[in-house]
Amino acid sequence: MEIFHPKEVGHRSALMRVLQDGLRPDGAAFPIEAEYPLVLGQGKEAFSYCLGTSEKPLAHANLWPRRLIGGTPSADLRIGLVGNVVTHEQYRGQGLARELLEGLKQEASKHGLKALVLWSDLNAFYQKCGFSSCSEELRWLIQVPRRENSVNESQVVLQHEPSLELCAALLASRLSLGPTIERSAKEFQTLLRIPEVSLMTTEATTPRAAAATFTIMGKGCDMIGVVHEWGAVDAFALVEQVRAQGRRLGYSEVLLLTPARLPETWLEILHKQSSQVQRHPMALAWCHDDAARKVLDHSFIWGLDSI
Ligand SMILES: CC(C)(COP(=O)(O)OP(=O)(O)OC[C@H]1O[C@@H](n2cnc3c(N)ncnc32)[C@H](O)[C@@H]1OP(=O)(O)O)[C@@H](O)C(=O)NCCC(=O)NCCS
Repeated sequence: MEIFHPKEVGHRSALMRVLQDGLRPDGAAFPIEAEYPLVLGQGKEAFSYCLGTSEKPLAHANLWPRRLIGGTPSADLRIGLVGNVVTHEQYRGQGLARELLEGLKQEASKHGLKALVLWSDLNAFYQKCGFSSCSEELRWLIQVPRRENSVNESQVVLQHEPSLELCAALLASRLSLGPTIERSAKEFQTLLRIPEVSLMTTEATTPRAAAATFTIMGKGCDMIGVVHEWGAVDAFALVEQVRAQGRRLGYSEVLLLTPARLPETWLEILHKQSSQVQRHPMALAWCHDDAARKVLDHSFIWGLDSI
């Protein structure tokens, strides 16, 4: 057994089959690489780690080095995002995923990555592999009235091909409440092309004005009916646009994800405007040291960064 990157053409197609079968067992309207273009797209093989024999991938995980920025300068931290963890169905229960994750930890230490972060409901499995909950987010349930009420829906617009200028403005418009993942406008533009991503902005003539309030809902097969990334002039404007997103797709309610540490005025408004709120761990993490955990526990990672 060895850990390798899927360099050969044959590796890549075998790997995509393992990923598709393991992670999308019910099928999907698009290939899995379209959902994760920055780690599974052509030319991104260095972010894929396979475990197998005779160069046949039996287990896989992505490791994507990223920088956590914001907050204080000392908060800047290089971390690895982990995703698309899967073991070929016939080889499960033999310790392959655990061995691969141990390999990723060694790789992280070798490259100065101070933590590995991932998103999953398989808490028991990841706890056995040394991961535990990190940071917190709030999940607000927002009801979507069928008829338009106060919302003037002509003031929002769905963006299909956002320009780089708009992407840069969207990045600047996100609420900055501590460390988050560094992302370029170009990377943002690529992420916004993931199937089922719905980007809504304010209707305006300049990118900056358009980005003043924006919401992003959905992401491939994940985050259906969930607004996972946004920027807003105030909490009212945010909720109005969350409802406009839901109304467009015929949802009766939408989940809005926010950092736990919101300004008091935002919390007050969101409590009034939502029917339910849950505090939830933001992600699972393995940390190299306590200092890294401290920074991570203050971080908020936006939805399009999760892999
Ligand atoms: C989850 C998955 C990757 C585990 O792979 P695996 O190679 O079978 O895992 P391992 O054999 O290395 O398991 C390591 C430990 O975790 C346990 N474990 C494995 N899957 C588990 C699960 N779903 N829930 C709880 N514990 C689990 C094993 O029993 C083992 O514990 P032990 O050492 O006490 O016996 C595999 O089941 C899979 O590919 N599932 C489908 C895809 C998926 O859900 N991926 C995760 C997406 S976030």
